[in-house]
Amino acid sequence: MALALNHPKGASADILLYGATVVSWKTATQINPQPTERLFVSAASARDGSKPVRGGIPVVFPCFGPPTHQEHLSLSQHGFARSSIWSWDGAIHDADDKLSVTLTLEPTDAIRAVYTRPFHLAYIVTLGQFELSTELRVKNMSGSNIYPPDNLEFQALFHNYILAPSSEVLVTPLKNITYFDKTESTPEGKAAPKVETRAGVDVRKFTDSVYEDAPQSYDVTWPGGGVEIKTSNLKDVVIWNPQTEAGGKMGDMEKGGWERFVCCEPGHVRGFASVAPGLTWVGKQTISVVHSARRHQ
Ligand code: BG6
Repeated sequence: MALALNHPKGASADILLYGATVVSWKTATQINPQPTERLFVSAASARDGSKPVRGGIPVVFPCFGPPTHQEHLSLSQHGFARSSIWSWDGAIHDADDKLSVTLTLEPTDAIRAVYTRPFHLAYIVTLGQFELSTELRVKNMSGSNIYPPDNLEFQALFHNYILAPSSEVLVTPLKNITYFDKTESTPEGKAAPKVETRAGVDVRKFTDSVYEDAPQSYDVTWPGGGVEIKTSNLKDVVIWNPQTEAGGKMGDMEKGGWERFVCCEPGHVRGFASVAPGLTWVGKQTISVVHSARRHQ
């Protein structure tokens, strides 16, 4: 099931209960009044809940990439949040010229079979005239019921597929930030640490870079357009584009799809976030459309 947010000033967003995945975000700019799609979704992506959506904004929780934490070893890549069916209470809130919905996820039998920690997730998607926000709240439910109190350790990330010409898009400002180049992983799976020297990071070749302790605010621009992503409590960012080298091998990637997006993924993925029993961790991003017709390096 998909739920639709329709802003009175033209913007819209579609969110699947499957994975709480935002699969469409359309907004105008001050220059172009026609609402335009801002997210890439592969035409070859599964839409029947059999596989995470290849596109939009999948939610990554509680592990990023192949699991490394001892409590995550039975999970698949990027965890279960993007492939679980979330709940929605049917309410759409309207405040401050913005519409928002809250989806929730608690352990199901299928989740408990692979992950034993008690948690409550709330995912709030908010649509403004020119912006979309997503906020993940992770509550540690240990210390109640049968679960002894224990810190909850996890990774979380918003896997944004931003619709953009990958031959021209640049992400800034990442210069001087340490990153881990997963395209150059060692046989043990360890990515090579590097320091970014580029003023603007491009994805003209296969890119899979995890920037640690990044600025939490990013410009994703190309001649003619762009978006800004501002985040809070998401210290890292992943820049990913598979290009033909890796994208050509992905069964759910449309032919040449990698030419039409850049993934700019804010998250907490180097090390683990930790939240004490009964407390809630909150990570948030706001993606806003750039209004100027040309803003580039
Ligand atoms: C990125 C990872 O976040 O997601 C990549 O850094 C990974 O290593 C990519 O290939 C896509 O992952 P998936 O599981 O959706 O194919």
